[in-house]
Amino acid sequence: MRAPPIRARRHPAARRVVVSALLALFAASGNARADAAAGQAKAQVCVACHGPQGNSTNPAYPQLAGQTARYLYLQLRDFKEARRSDPVMSPMATPLSKEDMLDLSDYFAAQKPMASTYKVDAARVAAGRSKSEEVLCTMCHLGGFAGQNEIPRVAGQQYAYIVKQLEDFRARRRTNDAGNMTSVSRNLSDDDIKNLANYITGLN
Ligand code: HEC
Ligand code: HEC
Repeated sequence: MRAPPIRARRHPAARRVVVSALLALFAASGNARADAAAGQAKAQVCVACHGPQGNSTNPAYPQLAGQTARYLYLQLRDFKEARRSDPVMSPMATPLSKEDMLDLSDYFAAQKPMASTYKVDAARVAAGRSKSEEVLCTMCHLGGFAGQNEIPRVAGQQYAYIVKQLEDFRARRRTNDAGNMTSVSRNLSDDDIKNLANYITGLN
């Protein structure tokens, strides 16, 4: 199933950000070689939503700090090529070159992730932990949801973002996962999703 065309749903605020993204990329393109400084310069436009050093303080915007570089690169590529679609994020990825995506991924992966400030519910944390053990989430995500290579770190991620992604996988609105998460989430109830998100946002 193909995602609906992005242009029709494009957010006006996002369009303004695209313009500043292009300006920032133009300014950064003076650096002839990929390097950390280039990544940092290119990231200026991203931190408007994803927070300083990629530590988001807005529940709708995922934390990028400390995410695996491989996963970040693959998501940027998928947004650009419309295998993953979001009305706010997709237009941000459209102007990026492969080199931009690699620089940005290296930059955000190298930043120190901050702990989530979401006020978790102790009963839901306990229920989420046992659901996670039952479904063997950490077989792929590793202990503590630390992530590895193309499998994301989810520890300390924004609560609302975790809930949205699990719902999107379950409803097959997000299908760029090679079948892993769409099948894992198929049998999760709304309560399971809230419990898992309470548990995982509190890990760090
Ligand atoms: C206008 C706000 C906004 C800006 C600016 C923005 N993003 Fe995003 N980004 C989002 C939203 C919203 C999502 C979550 C989309 C969803 O719910 O699937 C997202 C998701 C992502 C993801 C996926 C994270 C994950 O855990 O799967 C990556 C990677 C990303 N953005 C990188 C960037 C980079 C790099 C830039 C700068 C070039 C950038 N973003 C600029 C709003 C923004
Ligand atoms: C078979 C391996 C596997 C298992 C088991 C698994 N995951 Fe995943 N998970 C992945 C992969 C791979 C991705 C990245 C998908 C992509 O590239 O879009 C992912 C993505 C996610 C995301 C989105 C992260 C982001 O930043 O957007 C969340 C949340 C998540 N998994 C939670 C869970 C939970 C909770 C469980 C257990 C109920 C679980 N996963 C079990 C492989 C797995």
